[in-house]
This record gives sequence, C-alpha cells and structure tokens, in this order.
Amino acid sequence: MDQKKLQQKIKQLAAEKDALLIAHNYERDEVQEIADITGDSLALSIEAQKTDKKVIVFCGVHFMAESAAILSPEKTVLLPRADAGCPMADMVTAEGLKALKKQHPDATVVTYVNSSAAVKAESDICCTSSNAVSVARSVAAKKLLLVPDRNLGRYIAKNVPEKDCIFWEGYCPTHDRLRVEEVEQVKADHPEALFMVHPECQPEILALADHICSTSGMYEFAAENPAKKFIVGTENGILWRLRKENPDKQFIMANREMFCPTMKITSLEDVLRCLETMETRITVAEDIRVKARLALDKMLAVPRD
Ligand code: 13P
Ligand code: SF4
Repeated sequence: MDQKKLQQKIKQLAAEKDALLIAHNYERDEVQEIADITGDSLALSIEAQKTDKKVIVFCGVHFMAESAAILSPEKTVLLPRADAGCPMADMVTAEGLKALKKQHPDATVVTYVNSSAAVKAESDICCTSSNAVSVARSVAAKKLLLVPDRNLGRYIAKNVPEKDCIFWEGYCPTHDRLRVEEVEQVKADHPEALFMVHPECQPEILALADHICSTSGMYEFAAENPAKKFIVGTENGILWRLRKENPDKQFIMANREMFCPTMKITSLEDVLRCLETMETRITVAEDIRVKARLALDKMLAVPRD
C-alpha cells in the first residue's frame, strides 16, 4: 500500500476507534504527519491527560506511553512497538535508586521523565527537559538526587547553584555522542548560525550554545528568533517540523549521526497494526502507578522554565 493510502487508512481507523494519535518530535516524518498532536515529553503527557478520547496511540518510546498510562488509567494507552525503549531510562532501576536514597536520606529525588514507572514511584518529583530548572528550584530540600541523566543533572546544578546535587551517571547515547570539535567545525562553516541544543548533551557542548531547551523549545526559538540559520544539537527527527514551519530558514545538524534507533523504529505499518489489534497495551500496576502519579502530579503543578 502506498504511503498516502496507509496514512488515510490509519486516520479512518483512529476515528472509528476513538483514538488520539500522538507522536514525539523525534518520530519518523511520515508518522509525525498523521499525528493529531506532536510535541515534547511534557506537552504529550499533558495532552494525553486532557483528551476525552478513549484510546491513545503513543508513537514514541515506552516511558512516554507509561507516563500516559500513569496519568490516565481509564484510557487504553497503546504503544505501536513494544520494543521501543529508551536506553537512558534502562540505566536506572528502582532497586538501584533505593540503595542511593539510603545513602542520602536527607535528599529529594528529582527524576527525569525518561525513566520507568517503578523508578518514578521511588522519586519525590519528576521533571522534563522543559521544566527541569523550575522543578529543582521548587524543591525545599538543599540536597537533590538527580536521576538518571548526568548531563541534564549537571545542567540543573549549574542553573540552581544554591542546591547540593548528586548525579546518577546515566546518559542518552544519541545526545552524549556529540563532540566539541564537531560543533566547532559546523560553527566555523556557518559563523552566522545560532546553535540550539538539548540539555541531554554534555556540559562542554552546552557551553557552546546560544540556546538550551527541550525539543518543543527549539520550535519556539527558531520561529521567534530573526536569525535565518540554526545549528541543531538534538535528534534529527526535529528537522521535519522545523523546516515545515520555517521555510525561509536553514537548519543544519551539529552531527548527522544524531538519531535515536528506538524513536525511529515505529513505522506507519506498525501504527496501523496497533489500531487493528489494539496491541500493545501499556498498563502500570496500581501500587506503583499511584506513587509514580504523585511524582508526576507534583511536576505538573510547577510552572515552565
Ligand atoms: P523532550 O522532552 O525535549 O521531548 O526530550 C525527550 C527525549 O527523549 C530527548 O531525548
Ligand atoms: Fe532515550 Fe535518548 Fe532516544 Fe530520547 S533520544 S528516547 S533519551 S535514547
């Protein structure tokens, strides 16, 4: 079946099943094209909670669908590819976090949403890349355990110097790979371009940035800034909407290899199959869900950075 027909069939079936199609900003272009909503982790969690549709098809990775299931247990949350995980989220377990908490009983645990429900359940408050600094500032405790992204953790620590921060040493393989020499080379090739970067990149990379923000923050920055050229330091799925919404501007990847294999795993065929079979349904055990929900709700009550 050609792509357009496949997309039409998905839209038709989604309407019949009362399903909302959600896609993260890193998904394949053709998947983002059929989504009712695209966005960053925070925006998608909020939209999933707000919708009155019965079914949410989450084109993203497992922790995102799990967040939707935590926030909206009455809805059917479907992940088209059960094997779409996040390597960073897999770098911390609830047991590992419990052990670290024992060593620092006076610390508040601030956990990036890129984590399992079981890890969220062991956390005091969650954050995303778009509210991390505000969340850290909102916490009363002086000592913070920042989990699991060491790079986001160091970004928070730099912006909230009044806190004592302890870092979990996890990282995103897609963002952590970006090197200073690569950025300097692209900057030298395009001296007029502004460099916008995701806080999952290493601190030395963030030091070179004109703007540090979440994926959705990049759409806002590119649209509002009068510059015509931007160097992009995040996963390449972001380019589709950046180019569509800013046809007069140029976007250059800081490193062409910045792509997340699990974000790109979901095809249109997978989305169609998911709607036909109503598989794979993502659920969270109630005892874990209730605790994880508290950490997410506390985050949602904090205004954006
Ligand atoms: P955002 O919250 O900026 O969408 O990032 C999610 C993610 O997985 C980044 O790698
Ligand atoms: Fe996880 Fe990185 Fe992929 Fe985001 S880009 S889903 S943090 S591996």
